[in-house]
Amino acid sequence: MATRVILDVDTGSDDAVAVATALRCPDLDVLAICTVWGNLDVEDTTENTLRLVDKLGRAEVPVYKGCGTAMVKYLYPRGAVDTGRSSKVVDENGNELHIHYKRLSGLENPVEKKEEPIDAVTFYVQFLRAQTEKVTLIPVGPLTNLGEALSIAPDIADKIEKIVIMGGGDKVANISPSAEANIWHDPEAAEIVQQCGAPVLWIPLDATLSCALNRKDCAELRATGTWAADFAATLCEERIEFESKSVGGDKDNSSIHDALAVCSVIDESVLTEVEDAHVHIALNGYNEGETIIDRRCIPDKFNCRFAVKASHDKFLAMLCEYLGRSE
Ligand code: RIB
Ligand code: CA
Repeated sequence: MATRVILDVDTGSDDAVAVATALRCPDLDVLAICTVWGNLDVEDTTENTLRLVDKLGRAEVPVYKGCGTAMVKYLYPRGAVDTGRSSKVVDENGNELHIHYKRLSGLENPVEKKEEPIDAVTFYVQFLRAQTEKVTLIPVGPLTNLGEALSIAPDIADKIEKIVIMGGGDKVANISPSAEANIWHDPEAAEIVQQCGAPVLWIPLDATLSCALNRKDCAELRATGTWAADFAATLCEERIEFESKSVGGDKDNSSIHDALAVCSVIDESVLTEVEDAHVHIALNGYNEGETIIDRRCIPDKFNCRFAVKASHDKFLAMLCEYLGRSE
């Protein structure tokens, strides 16, 4: 029996690999895809998602456009936080490089498919309330849509099998010295989701960085011979190009963060180390967006599970298996 899932994406490059993997996996029943701001504005994340779903021949999967900004983060002044480099990243010819292009490579052409007439938040409330079977949610962008839906209708938590969140980090951060991008973008939404009562499995940077893909892996993926595999390999190579130039040194790999969240739902054995944990989200101040693991906590205080390591070889094998399928 296929696992019933809803994806929540800010399509971007790694989101696109996650969506393609989910739509190609026969063990997942993708009921809907919700889009949100984050890597790009919500207009662009939605357009990229529509084009991808159509290109994969899965235009029947509904896409619901969601929130364009955080719940409350930008309603009051923020502390000055270092969110990394300010200079542009350019290649040897001076061309500006990005990790998430406004139009992803392979999705240059517009498609007929449009988003559904209701927004993502309304969809979550109406759809989940109507369910008799629980649904697994896989949010891989800022958690604004789910934060809003759970604020309006906390009862929908009872209809959720589990929430598998790509986000956060224990010993690793990326957008600030202590936070990962998805959670930093909307800390309040993340705290609402973490505390909603549904089971939560975190897929943080600690896990996604442990299974980064290099150019050889991209070649192996491309060799499976399908459009989806070539599409994913290209996005991964573009990420490697950007990261090798932006962090310098001999970095020759990139983490396809969101695809690990999807693979974790397909076969959780891709995660080789998962801890029971007690997590809250820092909401304001220099460490806003940090996923704070309370290591003092005693077992009856655990409120989630937190992946700390994944298998590179199994992750790559899963991507080749599913993206290598023609349909
Ligand atoms: O920090 C990584 C996360 O932020 C990924 O979901 C990526 O797509 C960006 O949204
Ligand atoms: Ca994402």
